[in-house]
Amino acid sequence: MKNRKRIYEGKAKLLYEGPEPGTLVQHFKDDATAFNNKKHEIIEGKGVLNNRISEFIFTRLNQFGIPTHFIRALNMREQLIREVNIIPIEVVVRNIAAGSICKRLGLKEGTELPRSIVEFFYKSDKLGDPMICEEHITAFGWATPQEIDDIMSLSLRINDLVGGLFIAVGMRLVDFKLEFGRLYKDDGMHIVLADEISPDTCRIWNFGNDEKMDKDRFREELGGLADAYREVATRLGVFAGDKADVRGPQLVR
Ligand code: TMP
Ligand code: ASP
Repeated sequence: MKNRKRIYEGKAKLLYEGPEPGTLVQHFKDDATAFNNKKHEIIEGKGVLNNRISEFIFTRLNQFGIPTHFIRALNMREQLIREVNIIPIEVVVRNIAAGSICKRLGLKEGTELPRSIVEFFYKSDKLGDPMICEEHITAFGWATPQEIDDIMSLSLRINDLVGGLFIAVGMRLVDFKLEFGRLYKDDGMHIVLADEISPDTCRIWNFGNDEKMDKDRFREELGGLADAYREVATRLGVFAGDKADVRGPQLVR
C-alpha cells in the first residue's frame, strides 16, 4: 500500500484512494488539535483507539439501519469507506449543556437541556466553523430543505442509538458532532453518515461522577486523554487491555 494516492489530509485523519472505484481508505492519525489547530499534540495510540471506537459505533449504526459511509475495518488504524460528496455542515446534537452553548446562552455546564437540540455550523477552518441556521444552508445551496429534514431525523436517531450504547456501559452522551455526505447509487442520491464518531467528536461523561472521558481533557488541559479513550474503548469491548498494541501501522510521510 506504499504508493497509494493521498486524497485529503485533515487535522486528525487522512484519506487515501481505495482499492475499488468509489471507495476510500480513512486513516486515523495520533494528532490531537483544538481551537482550530492552535493547540496541537501527538498522543500515541489515539488514532488506533478512535478508529476502533468509530468502527464499533458505525457498525452498530449500520445494523440499526442508519446509512453510513463505513464498509469495513482494514487494520488498527484504517477503515474502508464509500467515497461521498461531503455536505459542508457540522451537525451538533446536545443533550446536556457543555462547551460553546454554555458561553453563547449563559448556561451552567451540566444543565440537562429541555430536549435534545440540533445545531448547525459551517465547515470552514478559515472562518472558525461559524454557527449557521437553516436559512443560510438553503440560501447558499449547501443543502436542500429535504436534505436538511433527512439530516435532522438521522441525527436524532443516531443520538438515541449512540446514547443507548454509551449508557449501557456507564457513560453519558453529552453532545456530539456529525458530518453527512451524498452517496450516488443506481436508485438515486442518499444522505449517509460520514466522518467519525469518537471521543474526539463527542462529549462523554462517566455516569455517577461526570468525569470527562473525551477531548475536553485535552482542550481543558486535564491530562489523561489516552487513558480516558482507552477506558471508552474497553467499556465498548473493542480494546483488549494494556497489553494490546495501540501503535498499529505507522504513517509513512
Ligand atoms: P462545542 O460545544 O465546542 O460547539 O462542541 C460541540 C460538540 O462538537 C462537542 O462534542 C465537540 C464537537 N466538536 C467537533 O467534533 N469538532 C469541532 O471542531 C468542534 C468545535 C466541536
Ligand atoms: N477540531 C477542532 C480543531 O482541531 C476544534 C475542536 O475540536 O475543539 O481545532
